[in-house]
Formats: sequence, C-alpha cells, structure tokens
Amino acid sequence: MRYHLTPIHCRPWLLNALSFKLIESHYENNYGGALRRLNAITEKLESLDFDTTPGYVINSLKREELVALNSTLLHELYFASLGGEGKPTAPIAEALARDFGSFNRWKSEFVAMGNALGGGSGWVLLVYMPRDRRLINQYAAEHTQAVAGGIPILALDMYEHAYHIDYGANVKAYVDTFMRNVDWKAVEDRLEDAAKVEPPRPLVQPEFGDLPGVAVEEVKAMLNAGKPVQFIDARPRHFVSRTQDIIDGATWRDPDRVQDWAGELSKSDPVVVFCAYGFHVGCKTAIALREAGFDAKFMKGGHSGWRAMGGPVKQHV
Ligand SMILES: [Fe+2]
Repeated sequence: MRYHLTPIHCRPWLLNALSFKLIESHYENNYGGALRRLNAITEKLESLDFDTTPGYVINSLKREELVALNSTLLHELYFASLGGEGKPTAPIAEALARDFGSFNRWKSEFVAMGNALGGGSGWVLLVYMPRDRRLINQYAAEHTQAVAGGIPILALDMYEHAYHIDYGANVKAYVDTFMRNVDWKAVEDRLEDAAKVEPPRPLVQPEFGDLPGVAVEEVKAMLNAGKPVQFIDARPRHFVSRTQDIIDGATWRDPDRVQDWAGELSKSDPVVVFCAYGFHVGCKTAIALREAGFDAKFMKGGHSGWRAMGGPVKQHV
C-alpha cells in the first residue's frame, strides 16, 4: 500500500506574519519528507519475511513507521489548522468553555504548553475524546504520543523547523503568531465530525434486561453524603474468604440465601447490591430483591470496580 499526499490546506498568501519561505520549506521538506519516508518504510516492511527477520529489525522499522505516520498525519492537521483570523467561532468557544471553564482559560493552557516546548520539540494538540465526549490539550513528543482513541482537531508544531526561519529562537512570538492564524471554522468542522464518533460500547448484559445499575462513583458519593443506602456485599462465599477485605460501609450477605436475609432490609430505603465484578451474582441478587419489593440496584464493576476507583475497604472479620 502507498500513502497519498494531502495538498496543503491553508493558503500561504493569507497567513499573517508567517513567510512563504517558512511554510513552503515546512510543507515540502518536513511534511513531504515524512510522507516519503513512510512510503519507503512501508515498502521495506512489505518485502520482509517476518519468520526469519530478527526482532531488532522489526522493532526498528515499526518504530520508524509510527514516527513517520504520525508526523505525516500531524503535519496535515497543522497546515489545516492555519489560514484563519484567530477568532473562535461561537460553537468552538462554547465547547472550550464547557471543557476548560472559558475560552481564555483553554487558550492560556494551550499557549503555555507551546511556550514550554521552546528549546525542545514536540506538538501541542487539542484532542476530542469520544470516551468522555470532551476536549483536552495534549502534549506529544517525537510525533509518537497520541491519546488512544483521541481525535486531534488543532495542531501546533513546536519543532524548530516550524518557526526558525522567521522567528529564530523567539518561541513566544511564533506561538502568538500561530494563534492569530488559527482557522477556527475548520476546527469547528473537525469537532463536528469528531463528536459523531460514539464512545466505546458499554458492558451490556442483555440477559438481565433493563435492571438498573449504579456506578461506583455514584455509590461513593451517596455514602459520603450520608444518604440512607443499604449497601450489600453479595459476593459468593468463596470470594469473600479468599480476598479478606470488604468495602467500607457494606454488609456481606450470602447470595445463595437471599430469602433468609431479605427480611432484615427496609423497603423504604434504597438497596445497592454488588458481587465481585458486577456480572451475574450481583445482578441476580438485585433481581431477587426487586421481585421481593425492594428498591434494589446492582453496582456496576462490583467489588473490584470499587477497589479500582480507590474506594475504601476494611478487613473482613
Ligand atoms: Fe513540522
């Protein structure tokens, strides 16, 4: 396979205080160089016999492939980030205010990250994360750092080749100039596309229908707020004897004997029940309690999820 060239997106004659010489050199030598290198590496990889090639050769080529691929992609985004007047559109200002507090707060962080890379090299990226449906500013060194599953929508190149011809070592002036040239309408369009990407699919247990579940963070907040929650650890007996710890605030009850202890619970206060990981046992116990007339929910992720969140546990006696 061959990677194809993406034409330069910004119109160099519209840029403010970035010279043709700088932009042409950057596009032709650095972007073009990365793309040409990527294709040469790809060709080399395609010619290898992976059964006989030493591991160090594969490591080295795959690493170089990643560097060249990310450099290609980020440079395409960099040139597509330029060509505007640096004035954020209303939807972008709104999205940045939602995720950073205000546009200016976002800008302070982004600009400070660029300035902090002066004398070094790397990228500053504004990235949309489908998992949390939000934007973050990301630092990337050597082209290779990327948020897994993130979609970059604005790229600031902080390699010296991006500014030295015009600004020498004056990093701050370059970053300010970049901000004055951002094409925010194009960023808005990319955000619109990125926001259509669905978060990773949640765990689905169709066998339990629409049994209501509650997140570990939510349960912790309820307990911290002193809400009257009946918090039941329904891990199977062998789990409890093996792990020897119990969630602080929870009471262990044998899931095999629900009928024996259900009568001790109050029907007016909610019940949150959990098992080891949030699968069958906790769900089945919650269903049994609901059928008996309790306002019961299962805790997603169970005991293990609670511990992973950093929730308090105590020794089981
Ligand atoms: Fe560059």
